[in-house]
Amino acid sequence: MGNLVYYFLPTVLLLALIRKYRESKWGKCTNNVQLNGKTAIVTGANSGIGYEIAKELAARKAQVILACRTLDKAKQACVSIKTDQINATLIPMELDLGCLKSIEKFAENIKSKHHEIHLLINNAGVSYPNNRRLETSDNFEIHFGVNYLGHFFLTNLLLDNLAKASSKTAKSRVVVLASSLHERGNIRLDDLNSIQTAHQSNLYANSKLANIYFASEFAQRAKDRNVNVYACCPGWVYTNLFRHTLSWYHFFLVAPVAFFFMRSAKQGAQTPLFCATEPELENESGLLYRDCKHYNSKVIFYDNVSTKLWMETENMINKTSRK
Ligand SMILES: NC(=O)c1ccc[n+]([C@@H]2O[C@H](COP(=O)([O-])OP(=O)(O)OC[C@H]3O[C@@H](n4cnc5c(N)ncnc54)[C@H](OP(=O)(O)O)[C@@H]3O)[C@@H](O)[C@H]2O)c1
Ligand SMILES: *[C@@H]1O[C@H](CO)[C@@H](O)[C@H](O)[C@H]1NC(C)=O
Ligand SMILES: *[C@@H]1O[C@H](CO)[C@@H](O)[C@H](O)[C@H]1NC(C)=O
Ligand SMILES: *[C@@H]1O[C@H](CO)[C@@H](O)[C@H](O)[C@H]1NC(C)=O
Ligand SMILES: *[C@@H]1O[C@H](CO)[C@@H](O)[C@H](O)[C@H]1NC(C)=O
Repeated sequence: MGNLVYYFLPTVLLLALIRKYRESKWGKCTNNVQLNGKTAIVTGANSGIGYEIAKELAARKAQVILACRTLDKAKQACVSIKTDQINATLIPMELDLGCLKSIEKFAENIKSKHHEIHLLINNAGVSYPNNRRLETSDNFEIHFGVNYLGHFFLTNLLLDNLAKASSKTAKSRVVVLASSLHERGNIRLDDLNSIQTAHQSNLYANSKLANIYFASEFAQRAKDRNVNVYACCPGWVYTNLFRHTLSWYHFFLVAPVAFFFMRSAKQGAQTPLFCATEPELENESGLLYRDCKHYNSKVIFYDNVSTKLWMETENMINKTSRK
């Protein structure tokens, strides 16, 4: 009993203090911007960070479209948000980012019902073990297809709706969920779909690097339509993302580390929400954020890679959607 008091309690107290200290570094979206009359789309809104983003946008009075892989999952998320936010305006919709037809159908649906989109949160994402090289239904490598190319297609299809909602004083915003793991990524312009190079690649990191290239190129292209774009890293967040890459024994190894470093989904939603709402960012576009401030990537970004990646991606989409 004595030992418990002398060692255990101080240890727990110390850990709790370290955790609190770390949390203070993560930043918080502290503005109180309300979103009455605005429409937001959140992809992958049924789980993890996307769910928390949708919930907070709804609490700020936006009409939120929850774009999920199945309509059932979207509806379940709406019910769950409504138990906390009874007045939330939520619209469940189906969107499978691994299928260009589904993305087209979703965009047509949006165009017929909601002319103005003020916020698009490109949040959905997958992470699988590298050696599996899974593919989407259109035969794109799954990280490249879902995390990057699907959102590329979606954002371009919705550009008119974003532009329509925008004004010089309140620009529409696209928020792209990237990751600081992009620093381990590589853009192989000669093998974007990783057919030859999957085994020597970090496919998840590659897709997140492509997301950041997308954001910087899209910023240029959407500038005169008054649409801003923000890429961000949410931090290391405890969600379902790791369900395919972690085994049970990882939980014993990871748990102690996770206690210090991992954010809750709500904490992970702070930087994306900051990018979506912060008035200070009104005149910025194409940059990367983490911990609710700018993030300086170790990667050197090349304009020639950016434009080539964009062209190649368009090409791949054109070839597939004409099939
Ligand atoms: N967690 C982290 O530490 C971390 C770190 C850096 C970046 N991120 C990024 O944060 C974003 C959110 O991830 P999370 O951590 O919240 O993971 P999560 O809980 O697994 O959520 C991912 C969401 O994406 C959806 N999704 C997957 N494939 C889809 C598809 N083909 N079509 C439509 N939706 C699809 C999932 O739907 P289902 O539920 O149907 O699978 C789920 O709603 C991702 O882009 C991720 O890369 C996360
Ligand atoms: C929900 O809306 C109703 C009608 O506008 C209002 O009376 C009520 O206070 C609102 N409830 C909450 C929790 O905001
Ligand atoms: C953005 O630019 C406009 C026009 O130059 C200016 O009026 C406004 O104060 C700027 N906003 C911020 C947050 O810097
Ligand atoms: C882009 O430019 C850099 C430096 O100017 C050069 O090293 C690189 O080979 C170019 N890459 C492509 C794909 O053109
Ligand atoms: C893809 O198709 C669109 C629409 O038809 C066209 O504007 C664009 O130039 C095409 N892109 C490429 C790289 O072929």
